[in-house]
Amino acid sequence: MNKSKSKKNKQTSSIWGGRFKNDSSEIMKNINASIWFDKRLAYHDVFLSKVHSKMLYKQKIITFKENSNIQKGLKQIEHEIKNDKFKFSDDLEDIHMHIEARLIEIIGQIGKKLHTARSRNDQVATSFKMWIRDELDSILDLLKNLQKSLILQAEFHVNTILPGFTHLQPAQPISLAHHLLAYVEMLGRDRTRLEDARKRLNKCPLGSAALAGTSFPIDRFYTAKALGFDYPMENSIDAVSDRDFVLEILSDASIIMVHLSRLAEEIVIWSSPGFNFIKLPDSFSTGSSIMPQKRNPDAAELIRGKTGRVASAFYNVLTMLKGLPLAYSKDMQEDKEPFFDAIDNLKLCLYVSEGLIKEIIFNANSMKKMSELGYITATDIADWLVQKCDIPFRDAHSITGRIIKYAEKNNLTLNEISIDKFKEIDKRITKNILKVINLKNSLESRNSYGATAPVQVKKALKKAKTKWLK
Ligand code: ARG
Repeated sequence: MNKSKSKKNKQTSSIWGGRFKNDSSEIMKNINASIWFDKRLAYHDVFLSKVHSKMLYKQKIITFKENSNIQKGLKQIEHEIKNDKFKFSDDLEDIHMHIEARLIEIIGQIGKKLHTARSRNDQVATSFKMWIRDELDSILDLLKNLQKSLILQAEFHVNTILPGFTHLQPAQPISLAHHLLAYVEMLGRDRTRLEDARKRLNKCPLGSAALAGTSFPIDRFYTAKALGFDYPMENSIDAVSDRDFVLEILSDASIIMVHLSRLAEEIVIWSSPGFNFIKLPDSFSTGSSIMPQKRNPDAAELIRGKTGRVASAFYNVLTMLKGLPLAYSKDMQEDKEPFFDAIDNLKLCLYVSEGLIKEIIFNANSMKKMSELGYITATDIADWLVQKCDIPFRDAHSITGRIIKYAEKNNLTLNEISIDKFKEIDKRITKNILKVINLKNSLESRNSYGATAPVQVKKALKKAKTKWLK
Protein backbone atom coordinates (compact mmCIF):
# COMPACT_ATOMS: atom_id res chain seq x y z
CA MET A 1 0.00 0.00 0.00
CA ASN A 2 2.81 2.35 0.95
CA LYS A 3 4.51 1.49 -2.28
CA SER A 4 1.60 2.53 -4.48
CA LYS A 5 1.18 5.73 -2.50
CA SER A 6 4.79 6.74 -2.98
CA LYS A 7 4.49 5.95 -6.67
CA LYS A 8 1.47 8.25 -6.93
CA ASN A 9 3.30 11.21 -5.49
CA LYS A 10 6.40 10.71 -7.51
CA GLN A 11 7.16 13.27 -10.25
CA THR A 12 8.10 11.85 -13.62
CA SER A 13 11.53 12.79 -14.88
CA SER A 14 11.08 12.52 -18.64
CA ILE A 15 11.01 15.57 -20.84
CA TRP A 16 7.63 14.46 -22.20
CA GLY A 17 6.48 13.60 -18.69
CA GLY A 18 3.75 16.26 -18.33
CA ARG A 19 0.83 13.93 -18.89
CA PHE A 20 2.47 10.80 -17.50
CA LYS A 21 1.95 9.69 -13.94
CA ASN A 22 4.81 7.25 -13.68
CA ASP A 23 8.27 6.83 -15.13
CA SER A 24 8.82 4.23 -17.79
CA SER A 25 9.46 0.73 -16.54
CA GLU A 26 13.05 -0.44 -16.84
CA ILE A 27 12.13 -2.85 -19.58
CA MET A 28 10.40 -0.05 -21.52
CA LYS A 29 13.56 2.01 -21.23
CA ASN A 30 15.48 -0.90 -22.66
CA ILE A 31 13.41 -1.15 -25.78
CA ASN A 32 12.96 2.59 -26.18
CA ALA A 33 16.44 3.96 -25.61
CA SER A 34 18.47 4.68 -28.71
CA ILE A 35 21.09 6.76 -26.95
CA TRP A 36 23.72 4.02 -27.02
CA PHE A 37 23.84 4.21 -30.78
CA ASP A 38 22.40 7.58 -31.76
CA LYS A 39 24.95 9.39 -29.61
CA ARG A 40 27.00 9.25 -32.79
CA LEU A 41 24.78 12.06 -34.08
CA ALA A 42 25.75 14.33 -31.16
CA TYR A 43 27.88 16.92 -32.96
CA HIS A 44 25.46 17.23 -35.84
CA ASP A 45 22.53 17.56 -33.47
CA VAL A 46 24.26 20.33 -31.50
CA PHE A 47 25.08 22.17 -34.71
CA LEU A 48 21.49 21.77 -35.86
CA SER A 49 20.26 23.25 -32.56
CA LYS A 50 22.59 26.22 -32.85
CA VAL A 51 21.25 27.04 -36.29
CA HIS A 52 17.65 26.46 -35.22
CA SER A 53 18.05 28.84 -32.29
CA LYS A 54 19.64 31.51 -34.49
CA MET A 55 16.70 31.22 -36.85
CA LEU A 56 14.23 31.53 -33.95
CA TYR A 57 15.96 34.76 -32.94
CA LYS A 58 16.15 36.09 -36.51
CA GLN A 59 12.41 35.48 -36.83
CA LYS A 60 11.78 37.20 -33.48
CA ILE A 61 10.42 34.01 -31.96
CA ILE A 62 13.00 34.22 -29.16
CA THR A 63 15.00 37.23 -27.95
CA PHE A 64 18.62 38.13 -28.59
CA LYS A 65 19.47 37.28 -24.99
CA GLU A 66 17.69 33.93 -25.13
CA ASN A 67 19.55 32.98 -28.27
CA SER A 68 22.92 33.99 -26.82
CA ASN A 69 22.27 31.90 -23.73
CA ILE A 70 21.26 28.92 -25.83
CA GLN A 71 24.35 29.31 -28.00
CA LYS A 72 26.55 29.45 -24.90
CA GLY A 73 24.93 26.37 -23.40
CA LEU A 74 25.26 24.43 -26.65
CA LYS A 75 28.90 25.40 -26.93
CA GLN A 76 29.53 24.02 -23.46
CA ILE A 77 27.71 20.80 -24.38
CA GLU A 78 29.88 20.45 -27.45
CA HIS A 79 32.93 20.89 -25.28
CA GLU A 80 31.70 18.27 -22.81
CA ILE A 81 31.07 15.77 -25.59
CA LYS A 82 34.51 16.36 -27.05
CA ASN A 83 36.16 15.84 -23.67
CA ASP A 84 34.14 12.78 -22.70
CA LYS A 85 32.47 14.73 -19.89
CA PHE A 86 28.94 14.43 -21.24
CA LYS A 87 26.79 11.94 -19.31
CA PHE A 88 24.63 9.49 -21.18
CA SER A 89 21.83 7.46 -19.62
CA ASP A 90 18.89 5.24 -20.56
CA ASP A 91 16.56 7.63 -18.78
CA LEU A 92 16.78 10.25 -21.51
CA GLU A 93 16.02 7.97 -24.43
CA ASP A 94 17.95 9.55 -27.27
CA ILE A 95 20.59 12.09 -28.21
CA HIS A 96 18.06 14.85 -28.88
CA MET A 97 16.63 14.59 -25.36
CA HIS A 98 20.07 14.37 -23.83
CA ILE A 99 21.20 17.59 -25.40
CA GLU A 100 18.01 19.43 -24.56
CA ALA A 101 17.98 18.22 -20.95
CA ARG A 102 21.60 19.16 -20.45
CA LEU A 103 20.96 22.59 -21.96
CA ILE A 104 18.19 23.18 -19.43
CA GLU A 105 20.53 22.04 -16.67
CA ILE A 106 23.19 24.51 -17.78
CA ILE A 107 21.18 27.62 -18.70
CA GLY A 108 17.92 27.01 -16.83
CA GLN A 109 14.38 27.79 -18.00
CA ILE A 110 15.46 29.50 -21.23
CA GLY A 111 16.76 26.16 -22.46
CA LYS A 112 13.17 25.00 -22.66
CA LYS A 113 12.61 27.42 -25.58
CA LEU A 114 14.98 25.61 -27.93
CA HIS A 115 12.42 23.02 -28.91
CA THR A 116 10.00 25.71 -30.16
CA ALA A 117 8.79 25.06 -33.72
CA ARG A 118 10.50 21.72 -34.13
CA SER A 119 10.02 18.09 -33.16
CA ARG A 120 12.35 15.18 -32.74
CA ASN A 121 10.84 13.85 -35.95
CA ASP A 122 12.26 16.56 -38.18
CA GLN A 123 15.30 16.81 -35.93
CA VAL A 124 16.40 13.19 -36.25
CA ALA A 125 15.87 13.12 -40.00
CA THR A 126 18.00 16.26 -40.34
CA SER A 127 20.84 15.25 -38.00
CA PHE A 128 20.99 11.80 -39.57
CA LYS A 129 21.24 13.27 -43.06
CA MET A 130 24.04 15.58 -41.91
CA TRP A 131 25.94 12.67 -40.37
CA ILE A 132 25.50 10.59 -43.52
CA ARG A 133 26.71 13.44 -45.71
CA ASP A 134 30.03 13.54 -43.87
CA GLU A 135 30.39 9.78 -44.10
CA LEU A 136 29.64 9.84 -47.81
CA ASP A 137 32.46 12.27 -48.35
CA SER A 138 34.93 9.97 -46.63
CA ILE A 139 33.62 6.87 -48.46
CA LEU A 140 34.06 8.71 -51.76
CA ASP A 141 37.67 9.44 -50.81
CA LEU A 142 38.27 5.80 -49.89
CA LEU A 143 36.85 4.64 -53.22
CA LYS A 144 39.16 7.02 -55.02
CA ASN A 145 42.17 5.77 -53.04
CA LEU A 146 41.36 2.19 -53.93
CA GLN A 147 41.05 3.14 -57.60
CA LYS A 148 44.42 4.82 -57.31
CA SER A 149 46.13 1.74 -55.92
CA LEU A 150 44.60 -0.39 -58.69
CA ILE A 151 45.79 2.09 -61.32
CA LEU A 152 49.30 2.12 -59.84
CA GLN A 153 49.49 -1.68 -60.07
CA ALA A 154 48.01 -1.58 -63.57
CA GLU A 155 50.77 0.76 -64.74
CA PHE A 156 53.32 -1.93 -63.93
CA HIS A 157 51.43 -4.71 -65.61
CA VAL A 158 50.23 -3.58 -69.03
CA ASN A 159 52.30 -6.35 -70.64
CA THR A 160 51.87 -8.97 -67.94
CA ILE A 161 49.79 -11.82 -69.34
CA LEU A 162 47.05 -13.26 -67.19
CA PRO A 163 44.88 -16.18 -68.28
CA GLY A 164 41.46 -14.56 -68.47
CA PHE A 165 38.69 -16.83 -67.19
CA THR A 166 35.10 -17.54 -67.99
CA HIS A 167 33.40 -20.12 -65.76
CA LEU A 168 36.74 -20.05 -63.90
CA GLN A 169 38.18 -21.99 -66.86
CA PRO A 170 41.16 -20.49 -68.69
CA ALA A 171 39.62 -18.63 -71.65
CA GLN A 172 41.83 -16.08 -73.41
CA PRO A 173 45.04 -14.24 -72.57
CA ILE A 174 44.48 -10.79 -71.12
CA SER A 175 46.64 -7.99 -69.83
CA LEU A 176 46.73 -7.97 -66.03
CA ALA A 177 46.35 -4.19 -66.19
CA HIS A 178 43.16 -4.64 -68.21
CA HIS A 179 41.79 -6.93 -65.50
CA LEU A 180 42.66 -4.46 -62.73
CA LEU A 181 41.14 -1.59 -64.68
CA ALA A 182 37.84 -3.49 -64.78
CA TYR A 183 37.67 -2.91 -61.00
CA VAL A 184 38.52 0.76 -61.49
CA GLU A 185 35.45 1.06 -63.71
CA MET A 186 33.25 -0.76 -61.20
CA LEU A 187 34.40 1.50 -58.36
CA GLY A 188 33.88 4.51 -60.62
CA ARG A 189 30.23 3.58 -61.05
CA ASP A 190 30.03 3.19 -57.29
CA ARG A 191 31.31 6.72 -56.88
CA THR A 192 28.80 8.19 -59.28
CA ARG A 193 25.98 6.29 -57.58
CA LEU A 194 26.92 7.77 -54.21
CA GLU A 195 27.37 11.26 -55.64
CA ASP A 196 23.94 10.96 -57.14
CA ALA A 197 22.41 9.76 -53.86
CA ARG A 198 24.10 12.63 -52.05
CA LYS A 199 22.40 15.17 -54.31
CA ARG A 200 18.99 13.65 -53.68
CA LEU A 201 19.63 13.45 -49.95
CA ASN A 202 20.63 17.07 -49.60
CA LYS A 203 17.20 18.57 -48.89
CA CYS A 204 16.47 19.68 -45.36
CA PRO A 205 13.61 18.20 -43.27
CA LEU A 206 14.02 20.69 -40.39
CA GLY A 207 10.99 22.88 -39.76
CA SER A 208 8.54 20.17 -40.75
CA ALA A 209 8.07 19.68 -37.01
CA ALA A 210 6.09 16.58 -36.02
CA LEU A 211 4.54 16.15 -39.50
CA ALA A 212 2.36 19.13 -40.35
CA GLY A 213 4.76 22.05 -40.12
CA THR A 214 4.33 24.78 -37.53
CA SER A 215 2.32 27.90 -36.78
CA PHE A 216 5.49 29.81 -35.83
CA PRO A 217 6.89 32.15 -38.52
CA ILE A 218 10.04 30.08 -39.11
CA ASP A 219 12.47 30.44 -42.03
CA ARG A 220 13.15 27.01 -43.44
CA PHE A 221 15.27 28.35 -46.27
CA TYR A 222 17.61 29.96 -43.77
CA THR A 223 18.11 26.79 -41.69
CA ALA A 224 18.46 24.62 -44.80
CA LYS A 225 21.22 26.81 -46.19
CA ALA A 226 23.00 27.26 -42.85
CA LEU A 227 23.08 23.48 -42.39
CA GLY A 228 24.57 22.94 -45.84
CA PHE A 229 21.44 21.70 -47.60
CA ASP A 230 20.37 22.83 -51.06
CA TYR A 231 16.70 23.41 -50.18
CA PRO A 232 14.12 22.61 -47.52
CA MET A 233 12.13 19.46 -48.30
CA GLU A 234 8.89 20.29 -50.06
CA ASN A 235 6.37 18.29 -48.07
CA SER A 236 6.43 18.23 -44.28
CA ILE A 237 4.83 14.78 -44.08
CA ASP A 238 7.32 13.32 -46.52
CA ALA A 239 10.15 15.12 -44.74
CA VAL A 240 9.63 13.28 -41.45
CA SER A 241 8.75 9.88 -42.88
CA ASP A 242 11.28 9.67 -45.70
CA ARG A 243 14.12 7.23 -45.22
CA ASP A 244 14.83 6.71 -48.92
CA PHE A 245 18.26 8.17 -48.36
CA VAL A 246 19.06 5.37 -45.92
CA LEU A 247 17.82 2.75 -48.37
CA GLU A 248 19.61 4.26 -51.34
CA ILE A 249 22.92 4.44 -49.60
CA LEU A 250 22.61 0.96 -48.14
CA SER A 251 21.87 -0.38 -51.59
CA ASP A 252 24.84 1.52 -53.02
CA ALA A 253 26.95 0.22 -50.14
CA SER A 254 25.81 -3.34 -50.87
CA ILE A 255 26.87 -3.00 -54.50
CA ILE A 256 30.27 -1.66 -53.44
CA MET A 257 30.64 -4.61 -51.08
CA VAL A 258 29.76 -7.01 -53.89
CA HIS A 259 32.54 -5.43 -55.94
CA LEU A 260 35.00 -5.69 -53.09
CA SER A 261 33.89 -9.24 -52.45
CA ARG A 262 34.54 -10.29 -56.05
CA LEU A 263 37.98 -8.73 -55.88
CA ALA A 264 38.54 -10.48 -52.54
CA GLU A 265 37.46 -13.79 -54.05
CA GLU A 266 40.00 -13.38 -56.83
CA ILE A 267 42.66 -12.65 -54.25
CA VAL A 268 41.72 -15.84 -52.40
CA ILE A 269 41.91 -17.87 -55.61
CA TRP A 270 45.04 -16.23 -56.94
CA SER A 271 46.91 -16.74 -53.69
CA SER A 272 46.08 -20.44 -53.48
CA PRO A 273 49.22 -22.47 -54.31
CA GLY A 274 47.43 -24.20 -57.23
CA PHE A 275 47.34 -20.80 -58.89
CA ASN A 276 50.18 -18.97 -57.18
CA PHE A 277 49.42 -15.81 -59.18
CA ILE A 278 50.10 -13.54 -56.23
CA LYS A 279 52.03 -13.41 -53.02
CA LEU A 280 49.99 -11.90 -50.23
CA PRO A 281 51.74 -9.24 -48.21
CA ASP A 282 52.70 -10.33 -44.67
CA SER A 283 50.74 -7.38 -43.35
CA PHE A 284 47.48 -8.78 -44.76
CA SER A 285 47.78 -12.51 -44.27
CA THR A 286 47.91 -14.89 -41.34
CA GLY A 287 49.59 -18.17 -40.59
CA SER A 288 47.94 -21.27 -39.23
CA SER A 289 48.35 -22.25 -35.58
CA ILE A 290 48.79 -25.87 -36.64
CA MET A 291 50.00 -25.97 -40.28
CA PRO A 292 53.30 -24.13 -40.64
CA GLN A 293 53.19 -24.03 -44.44
CA LYS A 294 50.05 -21.89 -44.54
CA ARG A 295 49.63 -18.28 -45.53
CA ASN A 296 45.94 -17.54 -45.30
CA PRO A 297 44.09 -14.73 -47.07
CA ASP A 298 42.02 -13.84 -43.99
CA ALA A 299 41.69 -10.17 -44.89
CA ALA A 300 40.18 -10.97 -48.28
CA GLU A 301 37.96 -13.65 -46.77
CA LEU A 302 36.63 -11.21 -44.20
CA ILE A 303 35.80 -8.66 -46.87
CA ARG A 304 33.90 -11.41 -48.69
CA GLY A 305 32.25 -12.41 -45.41
CA LYS A 306 31.18 -8.91 -44.44
CA THR A 307 29.33 -8.43 -47.72
CA GLY A 308 26.36 -10.37 -46.35
CA ARG A 309 26.31 -8.13 -43.34
CA VAL A 310 26.06 -4.93 -45.37
CA ALA A 311 23.51 -6.37 -47.80
CA SER A 312 21.40 -7.55 -44.87
CA ALA A 313 21.40 -4.02 -43.43
CA PHE A 314 19.69 -2.98 -46.66
CA TYR A 315 17.05 -5.72 -46.32
CA ASN A 316 16.68 -4.89 -42.66
CA VAL A 317 15.68 -1.26 -43.25
CA LEU A 318 13.68 -2.10 -46.36
CA THR A 319 11.59 -4.56 -44.38
CA MET A 320 11.28 -2.23 -41.40
CA LEU A 321 9.82 0.52 -43.61
CA LYS A 322 7.56 -1.47 -45.83
CA GLY A 323 4.40 -1.44 -43.72
CA LEU A 324 4.67 1.98 -42.11
CA PRO A 325 1.84 4.45 -42.59
CA LEU A 326 2.79 8.12 -42.93
CA ALA A 327 4.27 9.89 -41.11
CA TYR A 328 6.83 9.05 -38.39
CA SER A 329 6.63 5.78 -36.45
CA LYS A 330 9.05 4.66 -33.81
CA ASP A 331 10.00 1.68 -35.94
CA MET A 332 12.12 4.16 -37.85
CA GLN A 333 14.56 4.42 -34.96
CA GLU A 334 15.63 0.92 -36.06
CA ASP A 335 17.28 2.40 -39.15
CA LYS A 336 20.39 3.51 -37.32
CA GLU A 337 22.09 0.41 -35.95
CA PRO A 338 22.17 -1.48 -39.26
CA PHE A 339 23.17 1.70 -41.07
CA PHE A 340 26.04 2.53 -38.70
CA ASP A 341 27.23 -1.07 -38.80
CA ALA A 342 27.09 -1.18 -42.60
CA ILE A 343 28.99 2.08 -43.01
CA ASP A 344 31.64 1.15 -40.44
CA ASN A 345 32.26 -2.17 -42.14
CA LEU A 346 32.18 -0.74 -45.63
CA LYS A 347 34.85 1.79 -44.69
CA LEU A 348 36.96 -0.86 -43.01
CA CYS A 349 36.76 -3.06 -46.11
CA LEU A 350 37.70 -0.17 -48.38
CA TYR A 351 40.78 0.55 -46.25
CA VAL A 352 41.80 -3.10 -46.23
CA SER A 353 41.24 -3.54 -49.97
CA GLU A 354 43.42 -0.56 -50.70
CA GLY A 355 46.18 -1.90 -48.46
CA LEU A 356 45.94 -5.35 -50.03
CA ILE A 357 46.09 -4.11 -53.62
CA LYS A 358 48.97 -1.79 -52.87
CA GLU A 359 51.14 -4.56 -51.44
CA ILE A 360 50.26 -7.63 -53.50
CA ILE A 361 53.14 -9.05 -55.51
CA PHE A 362 52.09 -10.55 -58.84
CA ASN A 363 53.82 -13.64 -60.13
CA ALA A 364 53.95 -13.31 -63.94
CA ASN A 365 55.58 -16.74 -64.40
CA SER A 366 52.74 -18.66 -62.80
CA MET A 367 50.21 -16.75 -64.86
CA LYS A 368 52.11 -17.54 -68.03
CA LYS A 369 52.42 -21.21 -67.11
CA MET A 370 48.69 -21.56 -66.56
CA SER A 371 48.03 -19.66 -69.79
CA GLU A 372 50.10 -22.19 -71.73
CA LEU A 373 48.62 -25.25 -70.06
CA GLY A 374 45.14 -23.83 -70.44
CA TYR A 375 45.43 -23.64 -74.29
CA ILE A 376 44.02 -20.13 -74.09
CA THR A 377 45.03 -19.28 -77.67
CA ALA A 378 42.66 -21.91 -79.07
CA THR A 379 40.20 -19.22 -80.21
CA ASP A 380 43.07 -17.51 -82.04
CA ILE A 381 43.78 -20.73 -83.97
CA ALA A 382 40.15 -21.12 -84.97
CA ASP A 383 39.90 -17.44 -86.04
CA TRP A 384 43.14 -17.75 -87.98
CA LEU A 385 41.95 -20.89 -89.80
CA VAL A 386 38.88 -18.91 -90.88
CA GLN A 387 40.71 -15.74 -91.86
CA LYS A 388 43.90 -17.10 -93.42
CA CYS A 389 43.08 -20.66 -94.54
CA ASP A 390 39.55 -20.01 -95.80
CA ILE A 391 37.99 -22.67 -93.56
CA PRO A 392 34.37 -22.19 -92.37
CA PHE A 393 34.18 -21.43 -88.62
CA ARG A 394 32.44 -24.68 -87.60
CA ASP A 395 35.19 -26.73 -89.31
CA ALA A 396 37.86 -24.45 -87.87
CA HIS A 397 36.40 -25.02 -84.39
CA SER A 398 36.52 -28.79 -84.89
CA ILE A 399 40.10 -28.78 -86.25
CA THR A 400 41.20 -26.70 -83.25
CA GLY A 401 39.43 -29.18 -80.99
CA ARG A 402 41.49 -32.00 -82.50
CA ILE A 403 44.70 -30.02 -81.92
CA ILE A 404 43.81 -29.48 -78.24
CA LYS A 405 42.86 -33.14 -77.85
CA TYR A 406 46.24 -34.20 -79.20
CA ALA A 407 48.09 -31.74 -76.92
CA GLU A 408 46.16 -32.86 -73.85
CA LYS A 409 46.69 -36.54 -74.59
CA ASN A 410 50.44 -36.04 -74.97
CA ASN A 411 50.71 -33.52 -72.15
CA LEU A 412 52.08 -30.81 -74.44
CA THR A 413 51.60 -27.05 -74.54
CA LEU A 414 50.56 -25.71 -77.95
CA ASN A 415 54.02 -24.42 -78.78
CA GLU A 416 55.50 -27.87 -78.12
CA ILE A 417 53.57 -29.34 -81.07
CA SER A 418 55.65 -29.67 -84.25
CA ILE A 419 54.55 -28.11 -87.51
CA ASP A 420 54.45 -31.58 -89.10
CA LYS A 421 51.99 -32.71 -86.49
CA PHE A 422 49.81 -29.63 -87.14
CA LYS A 423 49.84 -30.47 -90.86
CA GLU A 424 48.95 -34.06 -90.10
CA ILE A 425 45.85 -32.84 -88.25
CA ASP A 426 44.87 -30.64 -91.20
CA LYS A 427 47.03 -30.22 -94.26
CA ARG A 428 45.83 -26.64 -94.89
CA ILE A 429 47.68 -25.44 -91.76
CA THR A 430 50.89 -23.46 -92.50
CA LYS A 431 53.85 -22.64 -90.29
CA ASN A 432 52.27 -19.25 -89.52
CA ILE A 433 50.24 -21.06 -86.88
CA LEU A 434 53.29 -20.79 -84.61
CA LYS A 435 52.81 -17.02 -84.51
CA VAL A 436 49.12 -17.43 -83.83
CA ILE A 437 49.55 -19.57 -80.74
CA ASN A 438 52.06 -17.15 -79.25
CA LEU A 439 50.53 -15.54 -76.12
CA LYS A 440 51.93 -12.09 -76.76
CA ASN A 441 50.70 -12.04 -80.36
CA SER A 442 47.32 -13.23 -79.23
CA LEU A 443 47.12 -10.43 -76.65
CA GLU A 444 48.18 -7.80 -79.16
CA SER A 445 45.69 -8.99 -81.73
CA ARG A 446 42.68 -8.04 -79.56
CA ASN A 447 42.92 -4.42 -80.45
CA SER A 448 39.30 -3.31 -80.57
CA TYR A 449 38.09 -0.37 -78.49
CA GLY A 450 38.06 -1.28 -74.78
CA ALA A 451 39.91 -4.55 -75.47
CA THR A 452 42.98 -6.08 -73.91
CA ALA A 453 45.75 -5.28 -76.43
CA PRO A 454 48.47 -3.29 -74.63
CA VAL A 455 47.95 -0.38 -77.04
CA GLN A 456 44.33 -0.13 -75.92
CA VAL A 457 45.14 -0.71 -72.26
CA LYS A 458 47.65 2.14 -72.28
CA LYS A 459 44.97 4.43 -73.65
CA ALA A 460 42.50 3.18 -71.05
CA LEU A 461 44.99 3.79 -68.27
CA LYS A 462 45.52 7.36 -69.33
CA LYS A 463 41.80 7.94 -69.52
CA ALA A 464 41.18 6.32 -66.14
CA LYS A 465 43.75 8.58 -64.53
CA THR A 466 42.16 11.77 -65.82
CA LYS A 467 38.66 10.54 -65.19
CA TRP A 468 39.03 9.15 -61.66
CA LEU A 469 42.11 10.62 -60.06
CA LYS A 470 41.96 14.27 -60.99
N1 ARG B 1 15.17 8.52 -31.41
C1 ARG B 1 14.16 8.75 -32.36
C2 ARG B 1 14.56 8.11 -33.71
O1 ARG B 1 15.67 7.82 -33.91
C3 ARG B 1 13.94 10.20 -32.55
C4 ARG B 1 12.57 10.59 -32.99
C5 ARG B 1 11.59 10.31 -31.91
N2 ARG B 1 10.29 10.83 -32.22
C6 ARG B 1 9.21 10.51 -31.53
N3 ARG B 1 8.13 11.04 -31.91
N4 ARG B 1 9.25 9.65 -30.55
O2 ARG B 1 13.75 7.90 -34.55
